[in-house]
Amino acid sequence: MKSLVCITIFAAILCFASAVRIKNCGGKADVDYKNIKITGCSRDNPYCIFKKNHTAQLSIPFAPKGEVTSLKAKVDGIIAGIPIPFPLPKAEACGESLTCPIAPHTNVTYFEGLPVEPVYPSITLKVKWELVNQNGINEVCILIPVRLQ
Ligand SMILES: *[C@@H]1O[C@H](CO)[C@@H](O)[C@H](O)[C@H]1NC(C)=O
Ligand SMILES: *[C@@H]1O[C@H](CO)[C@@H](O)[C@H](O)[C@H]1NC(C)=O
Repeated sequence: MKSLVCITIFAAILCFASAVRIKNCGGKADVDYKNIKITGCSRDNPYCIFKKNHTAQLSIPFAPKGEVTSLKAKVDGIIAGIPIPFPLPKAEACGESLTCPIAPHTNVTYFEGLPVEPVYPSITLKVKWELVNQNGINEVCILIPVRLQ
């Protein structure tokens, strides 16, 4: 049905704007973008809705190119171009959702919950989720359009 709406170029732009677009911001690993799952994302909104006083869940399937012995999550909200850190209960993913070391080219799935505090403002922003390896290099970097409400 969706593709029918995209017959004209004009409609195609609207069509693109109507689905959540997760952007790659420069990771080394092969990320299976199609199978990234995030709470509150739907085809009906241009952003994912993170409800305050809830925990937003995210899972990212990927395969590192080299061995991974440590993988730390760094999560920022980008508001007017300025990154503001979102504290995570546990940054290190090894020993949590991932069993390390991860051999090169192994398919694994990272998952984590992001507590959305009731005091957060009700705004639309980009959430930048980075997974940094033992050498300080990004394996994964994604930008998620999010509305806090
Ligand atoms: C947040 O949730 C807790 C329990 O789930 C509830 O007791 C509390 O009143 C909620 N706070 C707000 C600000 O909604
Ligand atoms: C790993 O994931 C990729 C991308 O999703 C897939 O094409 C491939 O078949 C998977 N490999 C294994 C061994 O499961």
